[in-house]
Amino acid sequence: MLSFLAPAADVAAHGPVNPWVALAYLVAGVFFILALRGLSSPATSRAGNRNGMIGMAIAVITTLVTHDIANIVEIGIAIFLGGIVGVTIARKIAMTAMPELVAGFHSLVGLAAVLVGWAAYLNPGAFGLLAGDGISAVSKVEMGLGIAIGAITFSGSVIAFAKLSGKMSGSPILLPGRHVINLGVLGAIIVLTALFALAGPADTLPLIVAVTVLAFLIGFLLIIPIGGADMPVVVSMLNSYSGWAAAAMGFTLGNTAMIITGALVGSSGAILSYIMCRAMNRSFISVIAGGFGADDSGGGSGEPREQRPYKQGSAADAAYMLEQAEKVIIIPGYGMAVAQAQHALREMADLLEERGVEVKYAIHPVAGRMPGHMNVLLAEASVEYDKVFELEDINSEFAQADVAFIIGANDVVNPAAKTDKSSPIYGMPVFDVDKAKQVFFIKRSMGGVGYAGVDNDVFYMDQTMMLLSDAKKMVEEIVKALD
Ligand code: TAP
Repeated sequence: MLSFLAPAADVAAHGPVNPWVALAYLVAGVFFILALRGLSSPATSRAGNRNGMIGMAIAVITTLVTHDIANIVEIGIAIFLGGIVGVTIARKIAMTAMPELVAGFHSLVGLAAVLVGWAAYLNPGAFGLLAGDGISAVSKVEMGLGIAIGAITFSGSVIAFAKLSGKMSGSPILLPGRHVINLGVLGAIIVLTALFALAGPADTLPLIVAVTVLAFLIGFLLIIPIGGADMPVVVSMLNSYSGWAAAAMGFTLGNTAMIITGALVGSSGAILSYIMCRAMNRSFISVIAGGFGADDSGGGSGEPREQRPYKQGSAADAAYMLEQAEKVIIIPGYGMAVAQAQHALREMADLLEERGVEVKYAIHPVAGRMPGHMNVLLAEASVEYDKVFELEDINSEFAQADVAFIIGANDVVNPAAKTDKSSPIYGMPVFDVDKAKQVFFIKRSMGGVGYAGVDNDVFYMDQTMMLLSDAKKMVEEIVKALD
């Protein structure tokens, strides 16, 4: 039925592309752009996902029907098995484990780019890359870049996965002279890629092996010095790298859809990383350069905790004071995700609103463990989007708030980020909860710390009441008391 999309050989050989194929890939590209647009807001994210799936279906079908596929049955089985694995993981994965899952998936994209690059190098004829007595210099540059970026993405993502899943310490590992080593290795990769492009067919093997090995090494070296607090940026940066690796492979394979998709993923990942760096007051260059400017002392984590007086309250105390309030700002964090307290929280907010209390939600850009983590949970509990505010839009309102209700957040409300230069979170913008008349702080115990592993002065403020319990249990008790 789709035979008008032929001839396949033209595409594979990078010859003139069938205009119907080009059109189909362009339509897929438009769907991917609509997907990214949709994903920029919780209200449109479902439509965004749908558009992404439609675009991918168009791209895959076009590729399958226009290429000389050796064994369509094998490909069908591979897609089926991969689909089963993907659906199983997606159904089982806990929201809190999403960042490491994303890092794990990026590692596969990177590895795929390396394997495709090597396959093209070892069998250039099958990829339509033979020109004269070997592969053209331009194709070799594309191949070298694809393999290098893919290898960096692979090893970097494996380290990010290990750090985020707790299989490796999240603290920065700072090698002496790391910047000189990194620059040296990067320089060597560039020089070796250029030599690979210029070398005759007989001399290329050791060069491409060296590029691959050094790129695996630099991915590892770039990520080990990055501390836990910068991990979100790293994950989105690796997302960007995986896109560039796919785009480079698109050039090698002469596949426009891969080039468009790779460039979209690469640039949107880079923009997200930049936005996150700004949100955490980190220098973009320092994060991508691998902990440039990181505190060699290792920050404040692991220091002995001081015993300081604090006030502890009960659910009944909290319910009583919440009822008297005119304005309550809720700050959710990672602990709300762990406890799955979002539905109980919504119930509590409904009861307060019935009593005329104004309730707003304040979301920090790095609250939880992945971008948009809190938005997803609140959307799951059907919290209206117009009650959810970003840091810069709501921070000035704490001065008028009767209650700042902190539920499972910690680092994102820690004033050390503003005052303590030795703190690992110094410079990250945080919510000004100290300006609210009353602060309720839900966490399980005084011993627990946030992701950055540092103490928080908010626990000990005069207006703070610690509500020590599992977040869901505490909010359910508040709801019962309000009822
Ligand atoms: P965190 O600073 O990690 O604090 C989590 C708080 O939740 C802790 O006070 C913990 O104390 C409490 N908690 C854990 N389980 C709980 C439960 N079942 N019930 C009640 N409380 C519970 O959270 P945050 O403020 O959301 O900050 C996010 C941090 O993660 C930042 O440092 C950020 O850089 C980092 N990070 C973010 C991302 C992204 S993209 N969002 C990715 C990786 C890392 P107890 O143990 O005492 O209960």
